[in-house]
Amino acid sequence: MASAPVVRRLHLADARDIAALQALLESAPDYARRITGKDPQPSDAREVLTALPPGLEIGRKLAIGLWCERTEALLGFADVLRGWPRPAVAHIGLLVVHGAHRGTGVGRALHDVVVEQGLAWGEIDTLRLGIVATNATVAEPFWRSCGYAPTGEVKPYAAGTVTSSTAIWERSLAP
Ligand SMILES: CC(C)(COP(=O)(O)OP(=O)(O)OC[C@H]1O[C@@H](n2cnc3c(N)ncnc32)[C@H](O)[C@@H]1OP(=O)(O)O)[C@@H](O)C(=O)NCCC(=O)NCCS
Repeated sequence: MASAPVVRRLHLADARDIAALQALLESAPDYARRITGKDPQPSDAREVLTALPPGLEIGRKLAIGLWCERTEALLGFADVLRGWPRPAVAHIGLLVVHGAHRGTGVGRALHDVVVEQGLAWGEIDTLRLGIVATNATVAEPFWRSCGYAPTGEVKPYAAGTVTSSTAIWERSLAP
């Protein structure tokens, strides 16, 4: 991993945070292509920071960044929905690592932060996420190594030119 990563939240009102997230998403065009069929789009960062399931208020969405202290680059990003879709569940909407820093422990470190946050919230007992079938080869080994398993719930998925399915995976919050 790059030296001395620090954890800091991203905010929609901060143009630097949007630019940093956009740069990170553009460093991972393979991911965008697998889940949308297209290259990253200029509005992607803003959309990631604003996307919410119906009925959930924005205050329930936490945007977590792992930053390189020296260069101030965003190494990895995760967003977590607190209390969705059930009060005791935290749903990881996205976890993505900068294309130049994959395979160096950034993803695991970011996930550790998500676990710490879930424990700090107090009411959460389960972590949840969805894996799009077209991204499964990349995502499944990572999530398995973080302790997740498929629940058996599968939902239809459509974005851009991709029509696929999303498999729901979960783990207990407590290690
Ligand atoms: C998936 C992703 C987040 C992993 O991040 P990363 O920083 O490369 O992962 P790490 O280096 O922290 O690896 C953590 C563990 O996962 C394992 N792992 C990660 N990717 C793997 C792969 N493709 N195959 C096998 N194991 C893998 C590592 O071996 C490591 O296990 P270990 O700690 O027991 O040695 C990163 O590849 C990424 O951003 N991909 C594109 C976005 C994406 O698909 N996100 C998931 C959406 S569901």
